[in-house]
Amino acid sequence: MSKNSLILLSLIQILILTFEGSCRSIEFVPTQRYLHTATHIDNKLYILGGLTFNENNYITEKNKAFIGTDKQFFYFDMSIPFNTKTMLWVDQTDFDIIPNHIAATSSIGCANNNTFLLYGGKSLLSRMDTNLVYAFNTQTNSWSVPKLTDGNFNIKKDSLKGIMHNGKMYLFGGLIDGQLSNDMLIFDTINMNFTTGSSVNAPSPRKHYGAALFDNQYIAYFGGKADDIGEFQMSEIHIYDTMNDSWTNRKSTGNVPTARSGFSVVLGLDGKRLIIFGGNQTYLPEALYVLDLQTFVWSIPKTSSGRKPKARFLHQANVIGNFMVITFGMGYNTTLKEHDVLLLDISNNDEYKWTNVFDPSPPETTSLPMPPTPSSSSFYLQQSNGLGALVGAVIGSLFSGISLSFGSILLYRWHKDRKYRRQAIPTPGERKIIN
Ligand SMILES: *[C@@H]1O[C@H](CO)[C@@H](O)[C@H](O)[C@H]1NC(C)=O
Ligand SMILES: *[C@@H]1O[C@H](CO)[C@@H](O)[C@H](O)[C@H]1NC(C)=O
Ligand SMILES: *[C@@H]1O[C@H](CO)[C@@H](O)[C@H](O)[C@H]1NC(C)=O
Ligand SMILES: *[C@@H]1O[C@H](CO)[C@@H](O)[C@H](O)[C@H]1NC(C)=O
Ligand SMILES: *[C@@H]1O[C@H](CO)[C@@H](O)[C@H](O)[C@H]1NC(C)=O
Repeated sequence: MSKNSLILLSLIQILILTFEGSCRSIEFVPTQRYLHTATHIDNKLYILGGLTFNENNYITEKNKAFIGTDKQFFYFDMSIPFNTKTMLWVDQTDFDIIPNHIAATSSIGCANNNTFLLYGGKSLLSRMDTNLVYAFNTQTNSWSVPKLTDGNFNIKKDSLKGIMHNGKMYLFGGLIDGQLSNDMLIFDTINMNFTTGSSVNAPSPRKHYGAALFDNQYIAYFGGKADDIGEFQMSEIHIYDTMNDSWTNRKSTGNVPTARSGFSVVLGLDGKRLIIFGGNQTYLPEALYVLDLQTFVWSIPKTSSGRKPKARFLHQANVIGNFMVITFGMGYNTTLKEHDVLLLDISNNDEYKWTNVFDPSPPETTSLPMPPTPSSSSFYLQQSNGLGALVGAVIGSLFSGISLSFGSILLYRWHKDRKYRRQAIPTPGERKIIN
């Protein structure tokens, strides 16, 4: 054996040991959930709360006995490429001070850029009540209960979508103590006080509607559900003007989606269209639609490649880089290789693309050069910090081909292993913190 092959072998050995060790310490398996919050801040996507389930104990409205909440709190680092098949979430559960809850809403954009807010929601299993507002500081990894100007103010909503604009969180509709509402509560996150907006011409009371800010001034609201009425038609678009606190209605036309609730809405990258996905009925004829904000015409966008995912509902969607990032929700089955996260590349309006591979968009104006897009196995390895350098060294050398195949084998083994673990409900003892 030549000296070179010996070095190669020991490097591979180190690689395997470090990799397997690091896998074990970072491993964190999130439970499937819906009615959670997903917040994108500091290039991290934080997931909190919701009702948990497992495909073997599938929950329907009639089968509430299986419903549970859990205490998991975790994030994913969105500054690095990843594959939705092999996501390494980072556990933050030990920093969580909030009682288990569902259907809260979260927003970024308050006075402190490192902080996001959680408003409302309800706790199910315990009588212990949650506070009205919580704040999470991503720099100190700590939750706090912000002091409100009016300490007695306590209108707590759930099953709504908070929309942030100029430091104000617009909290329309949803449920207040189980009663549907249609008032526009405005939470000034700078002054920490609440006002109520206009209800003239406001949409009828509803929950689990879709909402999105556009033209940096208007909020579009549509769909949703009222228990006695059912799902609302999607043709009626209710527009709230944040400048003059007024409502107008727009009739939309075209290929209008069927009535639905529990879908997600994001603003397209060009700001000229809304993209919606899913809805409460698992077998909707179509899950993905686009609403043109100039003409108010709906259409089904052309999508290329990838497997068209099944509609899900009560999930969340965030725009991160070039992607609509859909997290968790109801209506998917990991046993059928459907992943917790769906990625729709929305960079090309003529053809969106379902994909498993996330690539962070080019850096804004920072001077740090982006490394070339790593191959599928090397980006996976780079997710654990210390290993990055080692992987770089290995790949940079003549061993790259061999290490890549090892990488694939490990990846495969890890994935198999993970699939197996996934069947089991994680116990608190399995949780580990990486920070
Ligand atoms: C927060 O971010 C915005 C936009 O990047 C910036 O204009 C503002 O100065 C930041 N505020 C603080 C307190 O850092
Ligand atoms: C909220 O606080 C600001 C700043 O103190 C004040 O100007 C405003 O009137 C307050 N609004 C309410 C509804 O209390
Ligand atoms: C608010 O602005 C819209 C659009 O500029 C206008 O149509 C509407 O009349 C205004 N409403 C009020 C109450 O000022
Ligand atoms: C979804 O909507 C349909 C139509 O209103 C309704 O029959 C069904 O119960 C809803 N499903 C869930 C899970 O909310
Ligand atoms: C998920 O898929 C597995 C395997 O096909 C099946 O046994 C299970 O019933 C599915 N769960 C749901 C909720 O459809």
